[in-house]
Amino acid sequence: MPKIVVLVSGSGSNLQSIIDAIKHGDLDCNIAGVIADRDCYGLTRAKEAGIPAYLVDRKTYREELSQEIDKLIPQDSSLIVLAGFLSILDNAFIDKWQNRIINIHPSLLPKFGGHGMWGNRVHEAVLASGETESGCTVHLVTSEIDCGQIIVQQKVPVLKDDTVESLRLRVQQTEHLAMLAAIRKILEK
Ligand code: GRF
Repeated sequence: MPKIVVLVSGSGSNLQSIIDAIKHGDLDCNIAGVIADRDCYGLTRAKEAGIPAYLVDRKTYREELSQEIDKLIPQDSSLIVLAGFLSILDNAFIDKWQNRIINIHPSLLPKFGGHGMWGNRVHEAVLASGETESGCTVHLVTSEIDCGQIIVQQKVPVLKDDTVESLRLRVQQTEHLAMLAAIRKILEK
């Protein structure tokens, strides 16, 4: 059974979708660990599911963060999933796990990606631009932020009366499915 490791910084709803899919037999892998760079609800979700959960605090480890995270990852892991992980991993880590790290981003990359584009800022920028569609992207992680090969992209409409919150929720629902599709696609290779 392939092993995956999930990195989180926030609420962990994408993590939950992976946990649920495995439980229901919709995804064929095992979560070997969940690692967070700050105290967050994602860690609670992992513990509740009986998955080893680790906090590697970004404020404690700073430049050593990637190295400390790497120590916790089983070396035979098939995939590292960044599911709302907000720290930047260093080049040594990215090179080591090349083609085995994916990230989910709440826009149709390459639009609305790059440094500083995360969370509600993405949806604010989409609304300000007048775009009629948005969505999410799961992509391979490279040393350039939000630039790696796209694995799965799913679109949602932007409605005339959308707020940041209503758009965020619509994108989030589609993220959960896109994430599962991307993991399957990579593990089946
Ligand atoms: C998602 O919107 C994802 O696109 C972004 O961070 C958010 C994580 O949400 N990278 P959650 O922690 O999985 O609920």
